[in-house]
Amino acid sequence: MRRKLIAGNWKMNGSLVANQDLIGAVGAGLPVAHCAVALCVPSPYLAQAQALLAGSGIDVGAQDLSCHESGAFTGEISAAMLREFGVRYAIVGHSERRQFHRESDAEVAQKAQRALAAGITPIVCIGETLAEREAGQTEAVVKRQLAAVIHTNGHCISEIVLAYEPVWAIGTGKTASPQQAQQVHAVLRSQLAAASEHADRIGILYGGSMNAVNAANLLGQPDIDGGLIGGASLKAADFLAIISAAA
Ligand code: 13P
Repeated sequence: MRRKLIAGNWKMNGSLVANQDLIGAVGAGLPVAHCAVALCVPSPYLAQAQALLAGSGIDVGAQDLSCHESGAFTGEISAAMLREFGVRYAIVGHSERRQFHRESDAEVAQKAQRALAAGITPIVCIGETLAEREAGQTEAVVKRQLAAVIHTNGHCISEIVLAYEPVWAIGTGKTASPQQAQQVHAVLRSQLAAASEHADRIGILYGGSMNAVNAANLLGQPDIDGGLIGGASLKAADFLAIISAAA
């Protein structure tokens, strides 16, 4: 049985003061029997998050990492550096990075490899744009994105977390219906099963306008193992409601 994971992606939001309030409120309201919970914070706040989350049962996550190990890569942050701040998860291949930073499938796959080598679980994001969905290309797109990660990571694929995030649902308030999401998750599950005998243990999260109201229905689907939460992770009450729906 896969344990559900609810991961907040704060994106480029927060401040020292606001983070302290938010982490305090989430920690204080955490249900007793909860699922796995993580907060993926902007890099400058990793030390703060590590200190505030110590002993809380909530893991620290990063939002990206370098595909290089070390060296002359100005502005980049390595997996080993993240590890020093107790980072357990790192998002890789978020659509905002694929779109605005031109990250390729191959680069995302390398980032996943760097994370795994450092003992960090990559949360590998894949998903189609609205144009691709309307052109009937959803399956082909997500399978291509996942195939690159499988190709580079081989049997280690069983150690990743996958996140299906339809680009048209991110920050738009338009959520994939539970059936739409489940359909894609089932496709991804069978692709993983063909690549690894341990595919059963790979968590596949849904992300894209998941909120306190729609979480329970999405999380009730057989192949939806949690959520990657953007906007709703910035409000303690909403994020806690999603955790309760998963617990
Ligand atoms: P929203 O929950 O704000 O739609 O963002 C989803 C997301 O991109 C999480 O990585």
